[in-house]
Parts: sequence; structure tokens; C-alpha cells
Amino acid sequence: MPLFVNNRQDKVEVTGALRGWLEEVVAAAARLEGLAPEVEVSLALVDDGEMRELNRTYRGVDASTDVLSFAMQEATAGEPPVIDAREGALLGDVVISLETAARQAEEYDHSLEREVGFLLAHGLLHLLGYDHEGPAPAEVMQKKQEEIMVAVGRPRLPRGMEPGRLLALAAQVQARAYAPYSGFPVGAALLGISGAVYTGCNVENTAYGLSLCAERAAAVQAVAAGERSFLALAVVAGAGNEGCWPCGACRQFLWEFGDMVVMVPGPDRKPQMRLLSQLLPEPFAIQK
Ligand code: THU
Repeated sequence: MPLFVNNRQDKVEVTGALRGWLEEVVAAAARLEGLAPEVEVSLALVDDGEMRELNRTYRGVDASTDVLSFAMQEATAGEPPVIDAREGALLGDVVISLETAARQAEEYDHSLEREVGFLLAHGLLHLLGYDHEGPAPAEVMQKKQEEIMVAVGRPRLPRGMEPGRLLALAAQVQARAYAPYSGFPVGAALLGISGAVYTGCNVENTAYGLSLCAERAAAVQAVAAGERSFLALAVVAGAGNEGCWPCGACRQFLWEFGDMVVMVPGPDRKPQMRLLSQLLPEPFAIQK
């Protein structure tokens, strides 16, 4: 999906790396939302002064904000936009105040890249018809935003707990796997909401069906330690540390404790990640 970037400010430097990264965000959003390849989006990078002006003109609000969206096409959340060819394939404009983005990046203690990528995902979802008026739509939009950030490898994780670190802990425990029957060692590292990490490896048995997966071994350790919510799970499997997503049974077992980021080593060592809710759509759950 083509992204046209128009830098209209000079307060914050717009590097080639930042532009490349924003293209990645747009490509991930297009893939997740099933957008036709010809759909285009324009992004204006402005300063607080211009953002305040836009807010005053179009929203009657005399304040600067981080992001604004101006849709060109009718869109319904969850449905691919119907592009009227006579109007062109432009979905609309996203406007981001880089000045505010830089301030917020500092406040949240993450990079400018992550902040601008997040704001672009937010603005883009508005163009696609998503909204945050009311708790249910807001929750859907938040989930979509997180899906996009996870798809580009930037989940919201505590500082010091970068994906590579969690994968390294999974690789460490993989060395203790007991897998004499399959010869397929697996290691899992599960990051609890408390910040603690719990690890587990697969443990096989001569009665093959009794074999236990690494993910469930990690989960029971965590629950026994009092943890009930998880931020992320890393899995390292096989002799070559190839990316191997959790089996269906483990997905259901983990879903008991809600959504989390699941990551595996990708080709070229770049972690690949998904939300558990993406790996297990329509999970079994008894309404409580
Ligand atoms: N295994 C896991 O530990 N996790 C999974 O998600 C799938 C499979 C283990 C079970 C068995 O010991 C070996 O991998 C081969 O299936």
C-alpha cells in the first residue's frame, strides 16, 4: 500500500529509517485489514502550531493533538473499504504532530519510531472506520492497534524485556528438554504481568501420550508462583531453533489467562510475533 509522506515541519528530523519504518507499519496494517494493493494513504508530519490550527479549523478545538485523520472514503470497521475509483484510491490523510510525538515518546520511555508508528496505526484505523467512542469499539480499536504493532515486531513490553531477551531465556531452558522419543527439544519463557519470567521445557514419556509441552510446563510454574496474567511467551524449538508456534492444545491452555504476545525466532533471527488471540481465533470459553 503506497504511503505518501509530506513533511511540513522542521522541529524533528525525519530520517530515511523513520520513513522506512512507517512504510512497514502501513504494509502490516494493509495485510491485517485485507486492503487492496492500490489503496493509498497520505501522511502529513506537522508541528504543534499547525496541528492546533487544524484542530481549530476542523474540530473547533483550540489545542494541539498528536494525530488527526481525514477520511476520503466511506469505511465500516472490520470491512475492507469500498474504493470509488472515480474518487481515486486515496483512503485519506493522517496528520501527526512530530513535536507532540517526540514529547510522548519521552514520556512513555520508548523510541520516536515506536510512537510515530503507533500514531500512524491509530490514524489509519480511523480511516478504516474504527472508533474509540464507547468501551466496546475502543477495545476493538486498541486490539487492532496492538496487532499492527506486534506484526511489525514492536509489542508493548516493559523496558529491559526486549523480544530477543525472552527468546534467549527460552533457548536456555530448551537445553534441559527431555525429548528422547521425538528428538525435538522445546523451550518456553513466559513473562508474567509482575515482570517475572517463568520457563519450561518439554518432558516426554515412554507412554508417548503423556508427553508435556514446554509452554504448558512454563504456564503451570507461573500459576504456582501466583501469576495469573501474562504479557508475552517466547518459544524456541528443534535443533535449529526454527520458528515453531505453540500447538493447539497449548494455545487453548494459555488462553485461559487472556491475551498475550507470542514470539518465535524468525528467519534471519528477527523475532516473529502474533497475539495469542490471532493464533486462536474464536476460542472455547464458557461465559462466566
Ligand atoms: N511440543 C512442545 O513442547 N510444544 C508445542 O507447542 C508442540 C510440541 C513438544 C511435544 C513433544 O515433546 C515434541 O515437541 C514433539 O512433538
